[in-house]
Amino acid sequence: THVALLFGGDSSEHDVSKRSAHNIYDAMDKDKYDVSLFLVSKNGIILDDASSHRVFDGEDEAAVLQDVTAKLDMNNPLAPIINLDSTHNIDVFFPIIHGNLGEDGTIQGLLRLLHKPYVGSGIMASSMAYDKDITKKMLDIAGVRNTKYVLVTPANAKNWNYDKLSKKLNSSIIFIKPAKQGSSIGIHQIENQTEYEQGIRDAFQYDDKILVEEAIEGPEEVEISILGNEKPKASKLGAIKVPENDEFYTYENKFVDASEVKFTIPVKLPNGVSEEITEMALKAFTALELKGMARIDFLVSKDFKPYLGEINTLPGFTNISLYPQLWEASGISYTELIDQLIELAFE
Ligand code: DAL
Ligand code: MG
Repeated sequence: THVALLFGGDSSEHDVSKRSAHNIYDAMDKDKYDVSLFLVSKNGIILDDASSHRVFDGEDEAAVLQDVTAKLDMNNPLAPIINLDSTHNIDVFFPIIHGNLGEDGTIQGLLRLLHKPYVGSGIMASSMAYDKDITKKMLDIAGVRNTKYVLVTPANAKNWNYDKLSKKLNSSIIFIKPAKQGSSIGIHQIENQTEYEQGIRDAFQYDDKILVEEAIEGPEEVEISILGNEKPKASKLGAIKVPENDEFYTYENKFVDASEVKFTIPVKLPNGVSEEITEMALKAFTALELKGMARIDFLVSKDFKPYLGEINTLPGFTNISLYPQLWEASGISYTELIDQLIELAFE
């Protein structure tokens, strides 16, 4: 089977994607698969079959970009961004581009146009799950508990301030989140009007839909991995403890310095809570018509009420990412996991 790994991308998660792709590449059974590497550069050009893994060294991206763009006629506006000739022999694509123009249905649309099977969710499911506002609306319809929120947009922003929002949400601490982002970028914990003004200004840089959410008291971050299509299975649960002085699980403690973050796999929760989380995750997976995989993140309150926080349709596969780790703890090795994901793409 000829597999094309599609990674990088022009979102703020470009570097995270490279780390994910590197791990997936290493875990793939090379006797079973021929692997081509398609790197999407930071300016959005798809590097046609970058083929050597020097692209994983990070520093070499410029050189690879030059090699490949030299082959394409960049002056011709009709020049393909993917050289279609190079995709003929590919049986299946494995997109692992996190964030905008990768996890949001766009890459899935491109692969659909190419008539190629691909790992993970389809166009609509990817778009819905990537938008935290739409996700919450779907969760409400399906009856899956999630936090209360107000949607702030450029059109209604002047009607809102910290006091009104915190009153409406009945929460003195509120969270600001761009509707469409990953890796906690643009997320702020807010406790007063000054922080609100700064936070909302920053969040609007990423999206014009901003969720302002209530805070859950004493939350524990719990994540679960889902694998499958119509009959998805769920992994054991993992918990994440961030350092005392960090407010939440930020980009920095995810990907810059994760040394202080503690993972517990599997996590021990009181009777029935793990089962409830598993049930909520599977219900959400089905309600949003997800396919292949998802890592679903929960907040568990002090009194052990789980709230579904967000869904990641192309979760991280970095060294600290929980998606593959939770499967390893549940008896599926990294290599076996990649095999199953590729098989699911053909269903
Ligand atoms: N968005 C990152 C990659 C994650 O959720 O793992
Ligand atoms: Mg996410």
